[in-house]
Amino acid sequence: MNYKKTLTFKAFKKSKYFSLKYFNYFPIYDSLLTRFRNKKIIFVEIGVFSGGSLFMWRNFFGKKAKIIGIDLNPDIKRFEKYGFDILIGDQSREDFWNKFFKKYGKVDIVLDDGGHTNYQQIKTVNSCIPNIKDGGILITEDIHTSYIKDKWYNPSKYSFINYTKKLIDDINSRYPGLKKQNFSLNKYIYSIYNFESITVFNIDRKLSKMNKEVRNNKLSINPKEFRASLSEDSFFYKIKKFFNTKTNFTYLIFLINSFKLMKFFK
Ligand SMILES: C[S@@+](CC[C@H](N)C(=O)[O-])C[C@H]1O[C@@H](n2cnc3c(N)ncnc32)[C@H](O)[C@@H]1O
Repeated sequence: MNYKKTLTFKAFKKSKYFSLKYFNYFPIYDSLLTRFRNKKIIFVEIGVFSGGSLFMWRNFFGKKAKIIGIDLNPDIKRFEKYGFDILIGDQSREDFWNKFFKKYGKVDIVLDDGGHTNYQQIKTVNSCIPNIKDGGILITEDIHTSYIKDKWYNPSKYSFINYTKKLIDDINSRYPGLKKQNFSLNKYIYSIYNFESITVFNIDRKLSKMNKEVRNNKLSINPKEFRASLSEDSFFYKIKKFFNTKTNFTYLIFLINSFKLMKFFK
């Protein structure tokens, strides 16, 4: 999709104040956010900077949306006169978010374009996710900072991207065959999308319950499971035939395949 044709890019171009985005963000925004247009939603943007994105979101979502901007810089209060709700605070502080959600209740969308450090991004995920409505989303932007080493950012075991990988493990713990586990955010996060530089958390409490097997109880032909069988053109099948043995060499094949897979993880 040509980003220049997206609704969000058009809204971005129409904004009267400066904003900087990356071109790959616009098709992502359109695909995730179009369903919220012209609705009475609460949209929260962390990181206002020069105000350009506040106007972009107003242009895109329409007048019914409440647009809230959060920043550490008190100067952004100047945008209140345009009808935006502006809050000065630190996205990494739980007490800030407690007060925020006490005031606004659950919100539809949080877009994190704030300071982008691992600590800020992770604390924002933890504070905001329980306060997003079902069907709502949290978008964390500029997650490439997980890979950058400079005075602000630091790739580490405790990076934002590694935290999202942990949250993906948590989602998969809902499979009924695995040991039941209970992580605090797991009851809210239905799915996680990852794009280049953007991670999206889709919130839905009902869809985030432990999974359960469902059978249609129709006629079964009782098929044999071929997963551990050897195909006739394989080396081990020929050995099996030659020695006329019953073994499928399952464990040995597992070891060989694990070794072959190593190169994909480099
Ligand atoms: C990338 S800019 C935002 C750009 C804006 N969203 C746009 O698209 O035009 C990041 C902003 O986050 C603010 N910021 C940095 N750390 C923050 C924190 N801990 N809490 C809240 N805002 C923060 C900065 O003051 C800055 O204005």
